[in-house]
This record gives sequence, structure tokens and C-alpha cells, in this order.
Amino acid sequence: MTYTKEQYIDLINQALETYLYSVNDGQDIVVDAMRYSVRNGGKCVRPMLVLEFCRVCGGNVEDALPFACALEMIHTYSLIHDDLPCMDDDDMRRGKPSCHKQFGEAYALLAGDGLLTLAFETLTKAKNIDASDIVRAVQTLSERSGVSGMIGGQVIDLLSEDGEPDDALLRRIDRLKTGALIQASVRLGCIAAGVTDEKILKAADVYAQNIGLAFQIVDDILDVTSSTEALGKPVGSDEKNDKVTFVKLLGLEKCKALAEELTGNAVQALDDLPGDTKFLTDFAKALAVRKN
Ligand code: IPE
Ligand code: IPE
Ligand code: MG
Ligand code: MG
Ligand code: MG
Repeated sequence: MTYTKEQYIDLINQALETYLYSVNDGQDIVVDAMRYSVRNGGKCVRPMLVLEFCRVCGGNVEDALPFACALEMIHTYSLIHDDLPCMDDDDMRRGKPSCHKQFGEAYALLAGDGLLTLAFETLTKAKNIDASDIVRAVQTLSERSGVSGMIGGQVIDLLSEDGEPDDALLRRIDRLKTGALIQASVRLGCIAAGVTDEKILKAADVYAQNIGLAFQIVDDILDVTSSTEALGKPVGSDEKNDKVTFVKLLGLEKCKALAEELTGNAVQALDDLPGDTKFLTDFAKALAVRKN
């Protein structure tokens, strides 16, 4: 069975609702803030990658839903914290006031913490997946989210503000702050399908590395060329914070060419996957020319 993007998004949203349980002990404001941010119209790139890699590698998509939701929770927490005044200081996200604008900084901080923690609780709820594979998933997701992954990238991104961009630095920042969660998504999809074949894992990794870097380059392009209305988040954020970006290093045209080249590399890597890879080919190409 194959799925469309819309079918995947429906499955993901339904599953997220079941994992975002309420607590009625006086702390529901933070659950409200978690739900506000996670159910707030993101593109669901990372959970879709989990589900589609699971499918392509012969796994059951429904079984992979806890892994997919965990990725969206970690990603959303990273966005809530990324928008805080002490970081990028952005007031809008996914077309609505950022979490801290809606709920205040303290609750936004805690909502991020809540989603981070809930992500790992959710991984453990996977059914029909071997306990040893759930442990592999916990290991992968914690490494790729932590200081050797996404958090590490956010640190270097902050440390590099006001500095001069160079190719190696930018690749390192983007591989960590954005690439790491995309790599985790692809790997968790493979794990949910029980893949152990190194050749398949390697191909999945190469795909993820290339779309991950392309994804951040396109994000940086849109920060300059799009509108706040189309993006649902403020444009000009990178310039405001004097971020180092590929746009600053290479200019828009070369960035677009680089994103295309990386997308081509990603598509090529799919040759080593076992199943029908049309969705993943189209997905990579659509991300490179996306408008938000
Ligand atoms: C935004 O990610 C942050 C980056 C890593 C560039 P997305 O563009 O996937 O954001 P949503 O989830 O669709 O809001
Ligand atoms: C964000 O990069 C990466 C993470 C949140 C980990 P950006 O700061 O460019 O993301 P946006 O543009 O605010 O979504
Ligand atoms: Mg940022
Ligand atoms: Mg930001
Ligand atoms: Mg950005």
C-alpha cells in the first residue's frame, strides 16, 4: 500500500492527539502550550520521512507512528526554544503567535521541555516493534537531538552570530541543527521496519544528509525572498540576528544551484533502497522548490 502526503499528515495528526494526553493536576496550561505548538500546521517533513522509510523498507506504517510523532515533538520543541527572545527572538511561528507570545516565556520553555520528554515516552509506546529496536530508536534520537546533534548545531549557530561565514562552518552548523533530526527521522523509519542491512542504512543516510543540508539552505533562501504571510514566520530573521548562512556566503543564485545539486545526490542514493522510491524522489524535489 502507498500513501499520499495528505494521508500521512492525517495519520500523524490523529496519532499526535492520542499521545498528547491531558493532566488535570493544575499544570494543564503547559499541555495546552504543547498542543498549541505541535498541532499548529507544520509541514510534518520529519514524521513523513519516518513513515515513508518504514514503508519503503517493508515495515508497517501504523507501527511506526509513535516514532514519527516523537520526531515531530522534538522538532516542535526545538522551534519553541529557537523562537525565544534569548535565541532568535521571533514572534510568529506556523502562522500564529510563537509559543512564548501566546503563553509567556516560562511556559514556552516548559512546553519545549514537556515535548522533549514526551517524545521519549512516546517512543516506548511502539507496538509490534522489538524492544531491542526501540532501544536503537531511543539511542539514535537522543544522540541526534542532543549536544552532538541538533542542540550542538544551535550552539554553534549562536556562537557564530556576527561572524564571517565559511563553507566548512556552515556545513557543520546545518548538518547538526537541521540535518541531525532529518537523519534521525530516516533512521527511525528504517529501524521501525527492522532494517539491519548496512547498504540500505548507508543509502538512507546519504539521502538524509543531502536533503538535510538542502532543507536548511532553502530555509535561508526563503528568509530573504519570501513573505512573512507565506512562511508563517518572520522573514529577515537571519539578517536581524546577523546569522551566518549560505545565502550570505554564496548569494541566492548559487544557493539555489547548490540545493538542486544536493537534491540530485539524494535522489541518486535512493537506487540502493529496496522498495518503490517514487514518493521519496518527489518529496526531495518538492522540498528544494518549496515556498514555505
Ligand atoms: C523549520 O523547520 C526549522 C528548520 C530546521 C529550518 P520546518 O520548515 O520543517 O518547520 P515546520 O515544521 O514546517 O513548521
Ligand atoms: C532552526 O534554524 C533550526 C532549529 C530549530 C533546530 P532557523 O532558526 O533558521 O529556523 P527558523 O527559520 O526559525 O524556522
Ligand atoms: Mg535559529
Ligand atoms: Mg529561527
Ligand atoms: Mg531560518
